[in-house]
This record gives sequence, structure tokens and C-alpha cells, in this order.
Amino acid sequence: MTTRNRKPEDLRSARWFAPDDLRGFGHRSRIMQMGYAPEDWVGRPVIAIINTWSDINPCHAHFKQRVEDVKRGVFQAGGFPIELPAISLSENFVKPTTMLYRNMLAMDTEELIRSHPVDGVVLMGGCDKTTPGLLLGATSANLPSIYIPAGPMLRGNWKGKTLGSGSDAWKYWDERRAGNITKEDWVEVEGGIARSHGHCMTMGTASTMTAIAEAVGMTLPGASSIPAPDVNHIRMCAEAGRRAVEMVWEDLTPSKIQTRPAYENAIAVAMAMGCSTNAVIHLIAMARRAGHDVGLDDFEIASRKVPVIANVRPSGAAYLMEDFYFAGGLPALMTRIRCHLHLDCLTVTGRTLGENIARAEVYNDDVIRTVDNAIYEEGALAVLKGNLAPDGCVMKPSACEPRLRQHSGPALVFDDYPSMKAAIDDDNLEVTADHILVLRNAGPQGGPGMPEWGMLPIPKKLVKQGVRDMLRLSDARMSGTSYGACILHVSPEAHVGGPLALVRTGDIITVDIPARRITLEVSDEELEMRRALLPERKPRFERGYGWMFSKHIRQAHEGCDFDFLETSHGGPVAEPDI
Ligand code: FES
Ligand code: MG
Repeated sequence: MTTRNRKPEDLRSARWFAPDDLRGFGHRSRIMQMGYAPEDWVGRPVIAIINTWSDINPCHAHFKQRVEDVKRGVFQAGGFPIELPAISLSENFVKPTTMLYRNMLAMDTEELIRSHPVDGVVLMGGCDKTTPGLLLGATSANLPSIYIPAGPMLRGNWKGKTLGSGSDAWKYWDERRAGNITKEDWVEVEGGIARSHGHCMTMGTASTMTAIAEAVGMTLPGASSIPAPDVNHIRMCAEAGRRAVEMVWEDLTPSKIQTRPAYENAIAVAMAMGCSTNAVIHLIAMARRAGHDVGLDDFEIASRKVPVIANVRPSGAAYLMEDFYFAGGLPALMTRIRCHLHLDCLTVTGRTLGENIARAEVYNDDVIRTVDNAIYEEGALAVLKGNLAPDGCVMKPSACEPRLRQHSGPALVFDDYPSMKAAIDDDNLEVTADHILVLRNAGPQGGPGMPEWGMLPIPKKLVKQGVRDMLRLSDARMSGTSYGACILHVSPEAHVGGPLALVRTGDIITVDIPARRITLEVSDEELEMRRALLPERKPRFERGYGWMFSKHIRQAHEGCDFDFLETSHGGPVAEPDI
């Protein structure tokens, strides 16, 4: 039974609907225009359901039906649901990259909540940037909010082989480039890799970020692991609707849940999951919005302590999210890293994380490993620093060939993505497996929007020789479903004059992952000389949203939020006058 900390007359929505004045008349008459009667709203929390469904987002295709289940839950608990659509951000189709629009979704969410007669919020997302986008906005709005993850799609299948989103697309594309599979095979892979609605079912950005949403306390226990088509997902949606209403009465706001220890839990869970590198950027942005100074060092500390125990591709060789769900899901994984978690953190259930996972158990020790039998002894990510990346860069050592963890080699530099793409399949390209491929001008400003170009293709002539991994370095991001020795998010980026702009083909770069160092073996004097010769970079946009983006976007190590959206920017935003 929920504890009522608030009275019906205290509801925020009552400011719209209750007053006996001309404005109140307007709000009541217009809600009645839609067929509602006072019985629908008087004394009932209004729950905004922020839905990122669209006709071109396959990861959220089921949200059109699921929103009805959320509404059912809201009605059951005595609330009044209103669905508010937000920008959908389909990872597959939005160009140049959804990352350009994560903050737009965050603004969309925050302002939808603030401007409407809303008491509580249900957030519906899952495809990569939608989780951080929705949570960033809800954190700033700070009304009681609960997150509904879309759930992973079912396992892919081709000729009896399991296929994983992204990871197997890259893998079989290399096989096709090497001439090992035919076009007909490839078309069959296309038809088998995405078998149901739901987000990518590898440990990509989507599975990583929904797990983080759960670990930080913003979802129902276990919600992030339920496959999208499973009927348990339907029941979870209705339960989230019911819970949103109770959270309003309890006044259980995001600021009470998203404490610094809750973010430390999220970072530990990300490490144990073998998370997407994108988690770093999103978690830093989210924690900073919640008022905590979280940075790359927090990931480095966790990375040294928490091993990768989720045997899910691409860090793990074998399994996908459906297997992870049947092995017990995220609550089960959390029991395995219990000693690294703050179990007293409050969650949307009104209970602590420790209470939520008290009954959880692991049903398959190969899918969710014990810490003594980890997939990778350290955490998923390594943060490297050095003269080439003074503010840091990240990589995923668990997903790269061991021989590349300590490596010196000559740089092969590409100034932008089109020049890399034009050269990489040239049989005359002067490149060996010891080279380090460098892509620059692909960061937050330069990309623009920091596209997922960081897993540079292995040059075709090397693929034919059997090379499947080599060191790659960029100020870009990469898809969470990608793998290989890719060093990403070099900060500051080349476009704003970071040292990456100074590298020349043939320079020696040394990467030492155990020591967390990245060094451009060129003297400071020489680098200064090169800096003086740098051409001035033109802005990428001169009008529109992109113009605003380039004026206000933070660098990768700061989370790529807009400066003016950060909590520390100016005084709090006032509630609207009604
Ligand atoms: Fe939506 Fe991968 S495309 S999660
Ligand atoms: Mg992705």
C-alpha cells in the first residue's frame, strides 16, 4: 500500500484543472471536448506517457500497443494517462547520427513535462540515444518518473547459426569483402538478423543504457532484460503505469533516486555487462544533470575493480540478451557484483536496490559468469590519457585481440570519413597490420554529432590476408555492437584543435592499455610547429539546430550535453504561469 505524502489538492495538475476562474474554465472545457468528464481528472494524478514510437523506428514498433498497457495500469491505480509523443531517434535511419539529436530529445522531454498539466511521467524508450535523452529531460524536470525499456529483440538466425545485431553484420560483411560468402548468403543474413521488434539484442548501446537505467533505479526490477515480444513485457508496462501513479502520491522524484551512489552502481553494472563505449558519454551527461561531478576517472576506477561477467556479444563470444534474460537478467547479474554496489539506494519501487534483488538468482553460470570465471578480468572499458588525448579517450580491451593491448606502430591518417572510405578498399594502400589507422574531424563538432565511425574498416587487402583486427584511433564514437581495438572519443577533438589534428602519416603512436597511456612519439617543439600550420576550421553549420548544437555542445569527456542544459547553468527554471 502506497504512502500518501501528498493530497489531491496539492497535485500539480490541479493548478490547471481546479481553479474557479477563466483559465480553469478553458482547461476543463477543452479536456471535456475530448469526451472526458470530471470523474476522469478530479483528484487523479495526471501521468504523461512520453512515447518515442514512430513508423520508422523498428526498435519501438511495439510501443504503439504497449502504450495502451501503460494506460491500463495508470487507470487501474486511479490516475489519468495522457500520451505525449517525443522525437523517436531511430538509430538505423537518422542521419548523420542520432547523437546529434540526443539533447534535442532531452529538451523535448523536459519541456513536454514542464509545460503540460502533468504530475508524474512514464518514459518509453530503448533504442540507443532514447534512454539517455528521455532520462536527461526527466531528471531536469524532476517530477516522479519511471522508465520503460523497449526490451531486446529475439535472437537472429541464419542457417542454424545465431546472429547478433550489428556485431554479426560487421563480421559477415568482412567475410563478403574477403569473398568467403556470396551475395545470396548476404541477402539471407539480411532477412534473419532482426526477427522481432525490440532494440538490438547484443550488448550494444541500447542494452547497455537500459541496464544503466535499471541500475540507477529508474525502472522496475528486471525490466531491462525482458525481450520485447515476451508477454512479461506487456505486464511490466501495465505495472509501470500503476507504479507511476503511486510515485506521485509518494512524491518519489528522480532527485531522490539518482544520487551519486546510484550512479556508482550504474557504472559498476556497465562494467560487468561489458558495456558499449557510448555508456561513458551518456552516463557522464546524466550524472552531471543529476548534480554529480562524474567523469572518466570514475570509469577508470570501476574498470580496475569490476570484471566483465555477462557473456553477451560482442565482449562475450556466445550469447545474446534473450539468453541473458533466461539466465536471470540484470537482477541476477547484480547479485554477482553485490560487493561493488550500494544496496541502500532507493529505486522507483520505493524500495532499495538491495531489496529489489534479494530474491534474484543466476540460472546459467555460463551466461552470467561468476567473478572468478569472468569473461575479462577487468571492466569493459579502459580510459587512456597522454599527449595525444590530454582529456582522455576510451577503448574496450575486452573486445580486441590481446596482441594489440601493447603496441607501437606508424599512423595512417585520414582527415575525414569520405577520404577514409575512398581509400580503404584500394589494393595499393600502403598499410600493414602493424599500422594504426587514424580518423579525425569526427568528434562532437567535427562529425558533426560524433558519428559511429570509430570502428574503421580493416583495409580490404589486409582482410584478404586474414587480418581481422588492428588498432584504430579517432575522435568518433562506435556502435556498442562493434568490436576490435578501436580507441575512441579522443578529447579534445581535432576540429577544435586537439592534438589529434597534429598527427601525420608515418608518426609513431604507442598504445599501452595496461598502463592506460597513449603517446604520439613526436617532440613538443615539432608539435608546436605543426600547430602553427593548422588551417582554420570552418563551422559545420551556419543556421538551424546544427548552429545551436555547435555553439553549445560539450566535449566527449564532459558528456556532450549542451552547456545551457547543465544543471549548474544559471538559476532553476521557473514553473509556468497558469
Ligand atoms: Fe535501435 Fe540498435 S538500432 S537499438
Ligand atoms: Mg547502436
